[in-house]
Amino acid sequence: MCGIVGYIGSEKAVPMLMAGLKKLEYRGYDSAGIAVLDGKNAVKSQRSIGKLSALLELTEKDKTDGTLGIGHTRWATHGKPSVENAHPHTDCSGKIVVIHNGIVENYIELKARLSEGRHKFFSQTDTEVIPHLIEEHFSATHNMAEACRLTALELKGAQAILVVSEYEPDKIIAIRIGNAGGLIVGRDGKESYIASDLAAMADHARHVAYLESREMAVVGRDSVHYLTLDGATLVKKTTAVTEQMVSAGKGLFEHFMLKEISEQPECVLNALRGRMGFELADVLLEGIPFSKHEASEMRRIVLVGMGTSMHAAMVGRHYMERLAGVPTEIENASEFRYRDFIADPPPLVISISQSGETVDTLAGMEEAKRRGLRQITLCNTPGSQSSRLADYTLSLRCGPEIGVASTKTLASSIACLYLLALWIGKHNGHLDEKALEKQVQILAKAPDLVGRALSMTSSIKALAEKYHKANHFLYLGRGIDYPMAMEGAIKLKETAYVHAEGYAAGEMKHGPIALIDDSMPVLAIAPRNALYQKMVSNIQEVKARDGKVIAVATEGDTLLPTIADDIIFVPACDYLLEPLAILPALQLFAYYMAVHLKRDVDQPRNLAKSVTVE
Ligand code: AGP
Ligand code: GLU
Repeated sequence: MCGIVGYIGSEKAVPMLMAGLKKLEYRGYDSAGIAVLDGKNAVKSQRSIGKLSALLELTEKDKTDGTLGIGHTRWATHGKPSVENAHPHTDCSGKIVVIHNGIVENYIELKARLSEGRHKFFSQTDTEVIPHLIEEHFSATHNMAEACRLTALELKGAQAILVVSEYEPDKIIAIRIGNAGGLIVGRDGKESYIASDLAAMADHARHVAYLESREMAVVGRDSVHYLTLDGATLVKKTTAVTEQMVSAGKGLFEHFMLKEISEQPECVLNALRGRMGFELADVLLEGIPFSKHEASEMRRIVLVGMGTSMHAAMVGRHYMERLAGVPTEIENASEFRYRDFIADPPPLVISISQSGETVDTLAGMEEAKRRGLRQITLCNTPGSQSSRLADYTLSLRCGPEIGVASTKTLASSIACLYLLALWIGKHNGHLDEKALEKQVQILAKAPDLVGRALSMTSSIKALAEKYHKANHFLYLGRGIDYPMAMEGAIKLKETAYVHAEGYAAGEMKHGPIALIDDSMPVLAIAPRNALYQKMVSNIQEVKARDGKVIAVATEGDTLLPTIADDIIFVPACDYLLEPLAILPALQLFAYYMAVHLKRDVDQPRNLAKSVTVE
């Protein structure tokens, strides 16, 4: 979650930018930089690694009075933390300057194309292709906004970008593609602000507008022009900034749950940052205390967790088996320690816990420790008890999850389990170089995929309205989507207080089918994969018994809309990423059901965020 700020007005830009970046520090970063257009409209960039204090020192030593600038805290995805890789990055002339949050998925091919021409690169970042592309388009169009728009159309992946240039020194151009990083434009009189987070501009901006995916803003001192990446002018709704929006930390969102659902693309991106190499496909888990030999000796894996974290484990089993080739079991942590668990061969225990304080999971981990088993924990809370028990912690990097129902930490757990399976598969030889490269390319698409999944959910609110009177739901899924059926059901139970059961679709005929009638909606997860036809048959079986079916289908599916009563489309993707494409729809369905039923969405009755007693 790197931070982006921009300022254009009559005050000195540097203090504004530094104050904004300070407010974004909590998001995590490894280096920082600013670029300001000085009094003569020449770009002055300053960059440093480490804390903002290092950048502050630079700006104080070498001052500039410019009143337009952009600032960035980088949290590396491509290329190690270094001054050369810190943002801003420039084109060949140094006159076009860019800061960027996210991943340019196709940067390798863009860089190869640009390098064939006269473009020289000085960093290992994906970002650096952006100013060079703008340079190309500007020399053809002589219009900075148009050059930025044409550049944006060439970029794949989810990202937020700010551009300033000496060619048109009276504007900052802001672009949002996908959802892996917000961009807000704020105004007050003759000043404009841009930031990835409201907190960074809340002391100044009076009115704000949120950029959506594929939107851009040409931000001047007196006015802002909004347009879509197709070039059409946009009239954006602005919102007055209220004290409450800022202090509650919910921004424009009515509930933390909704805010946290929408943060998932960024959480998935954060989970991957610095942990994957792209140019030479690799997985890099810093500080992992297992030698290559130990990794290649891992002959068995046990995944433990509770509730939503156990659903992550269920997805994780698919990754461990397919990508690492290691036999894997899933344990409900609360049962694990009461069995005569046979630790031969000794498994690697991987626990998943958002809080790191769940009593059942900790008890399972203690039992594993007593038996001398090696352990990795996936956890969102630094310094938690599960981190202290495990040999290694893979941080989920979601920031605090306030809503009691887990949302964003599940998306991040899934991404982390994928990474971990790749790391094991690389070391035990299950994945050769080519296979690893293919998997790295697939996983790099995850943040954008979650963003696209979120943007396809506009029909869900109406669906919840239609179904909110139903008292029982059945959720069905197969293969890697079966855990999502479980997760969809738990979300509905805990937030809407509506009874729901998640089943493997193949299990339906072994009992649950007796429940089906016209008052029992069935949510069938049926994306286009190898199990699709079997799901279609299950859906037909429900329909034959007068059941109502809401099908979760792949965008473009023409068959299911003719069979199911209602459809939720999700983006097409690789099989192993399907849970991430499906999850937002299920979370939002539960959320809107809860809202319709006037439930206490963020603090559902009887539930605790971390369960610390058995
Ligand atoms: C999540 O929505 C639930 N409230 C619950 O199932 C939760 O996932 C479970 O208690 C485990 O919590 P943990 O991830 O903090 O260990
Ligand atoms: N991909 C860019 C980089 O590695 C941006 C990282 C960020 O979002 O901070 O520099």
